[in-house]
Amino acid sequence: MTGRPRRASYHGEAMDEQVETVLHADGPEGTARVAAALAPHLRAGDAVLLTGELAAGKTTFVSALVAALGSQAAVSSPTFSLAQFYATPGPRVLHVDTYRLDDLTEFRDLGLDEYLDEVIALVEWGDLVAGEFVDPLRMHLAADPDDAAARRITVRGSARWAPALDALAAPAPSSTTP
Ligand SMILES: Nc1ncnc2c1ncn2[C@@H]1O[C@H](COP(=O)(O)OP(=O)(O)O)[C@@H](O)[C@H]1O
Ligand SMILES: [Mg+2]
Repeated sequence: MTGRPRRASYHGEAMDEQVETVLHADGPEGTARVAAALAPHLRAGDAVLLTGELAAGKTTFVSALVAALGSQAAVSSPTFSLAQFYATPGPRVLHVDTYRLDDLTEFRDLGLDEYLDEVIALVEWGDLVAGEFVDPLRMHLAADPDDAAARRITVRGSARWAPALDALAAPAPSSTTP
């Protein structure tokens, strides 16, 4: 790691400095590579908020990230429960899907707040509950206009996320080794 951002672009925003990078995930394998690059940068207390339309690839990303964090569990959309914990060799992962939540009160009533310091929180449809998390990393997934079989992932966070974005923007090892 050089410590110097490669493709991350920096721009001031109203309240604080944000870093942002745009990634191309070529199929679920591409999503898995992004997840594997992010995993080593996540600590207990961190939150990743995922946005994007239905079928944008949010659950695919969560699944790949949970695997990259060392869990054997099969991740699915939390259809019957809004939240699911996954054990990993490191901090537990808390996967939340707020799609069926009507409002913030409903989220607060889940009582997840007391766990947020000790888990890595991965939140689908994170916009609704964004204010509940301290300094989250935001990932927006969308169909790639140039490639129907791929996804465009826009990653944004405060300056403290710069090393993680740096790692995400770096070429995957597979593309630099023969
Ligand atoms: N990077 C990607 N490129 C192409 N297809 C993808 C990618 N990520 C996910 N998909 C596919 O998109 C579909 C929906 O993914 P899913 O993760 O369930 O979306 P969401 O949770 O956003 O609704 C799945 O069929 C999945 O295989
Ligand atoms: Mg989903």
